[in-house]
Amino acid sequence: MSVQSISSEELQNVFAVGAGNEQIRNWCATLEAGQVIYFPRTPVPIPPADLETLLAGSQTDSRLHKNIAYKPNRDELTGVDEKTSPPEAVRELHAIMRRYSASVEEFLSRFLAPYQKRWTLDYASYRPIEEQGRDLSTRRRNDLLHTDAFPTRPTKGWRILRFFHNIHPTRTRDWVTGEPFAKVVGHFAPGKLDLPQPDGALAHVGKGIAQSVGLGKLVPQWKRTPYDEFMMQLHNTMKEDSAFQESCVREEFQFAPGSSWMVYTETVPHAVLAGQYALEQTFLVDPAAMVTPESAPVAVLEKMAGARLV
Ligand SMILES: [Fe+2]
Repeated sequence: MSVQSISSEELQNVFAVGAGNEQIRNWCATLEAGQVIYFPRTPVPIPPADLETLLAGSQTDSRLHKNIAYKPNRDELTGVDEKTSPPEAVRELHAIMRRYSASVEEFLSRFLAPYQKRWTLDYASYRPIEEQGRDLSTRRRNDLLHTDAFPTRPTKGWRILRFFHNIHPTRTRDWVTGEPFAKVVGHFAPGKLDLPQPDGALAHVGKGIAQSVGLGKLVPQWKRTPYDEFMMQLHNTMKEDSAFQESCVREEFQFAPGSSWMVYTETVPHAVLAGQYALEQTFLVDPAAMVTPESAPVAVLEKMAGARLV
């Protein structure tokens, strides 16, 4: 698999040299080229008490831990049933997620120093549910190869970078990844999927959704650009094409307990087959901040379409 493994020692040595060094730029380029950056021992360790709370809470109270999201911009925790969860447990979980989110950003501001924090800190999540055998609709399934796109939060070309941590004490988190982005796009478009169109009705689909639920101009960020529309269609088409799922080239990787990894999930086809208890923090990164801007999916698609898409 296209996984670049980085040991704690290697990381320490590079950080000791300073942010401007060549190795850090190379790691950024590796990530941008569609590889998974893997840390066998996480560089963002969770305080033992936090870890204990996350794991213990999951076992004793499934209501509390189901699909937990932390929104750093609003310091808000969602996915917790406040009616049935003890308020002190909710407060503690909120504090744990706040700490996790801040510590991942602190680490990435060093590891991705060339980006100079040209990103938006997006949601963090806690995923305590066993991934194997989940009963989800096709478009929501995590075990089908896909590239990420957010239905109600178009990124307008900004990249989706996700940093994960397998906090399961003993089990691996099992992933597969697929072929490079351009190759996957070529598999579907044109033919099964239209090449992205520079403008037209498609661009207004997101706005239409916002208006239909009465939000109208209040949420202009819902408006999908042609880029977002294509990325959404690609996500859906990949998951819904059973022939593709059965025949596509795939590589498997098992992320060890206590490890972390990060990947641009809007370009690297991925699926999680098994595993339980993972933390994740998402960043939306300015494609212009890339060490290799030509590798950003918006650049790849604009080249194919011969037009601007955002
Ligand atoms: Fe995904």
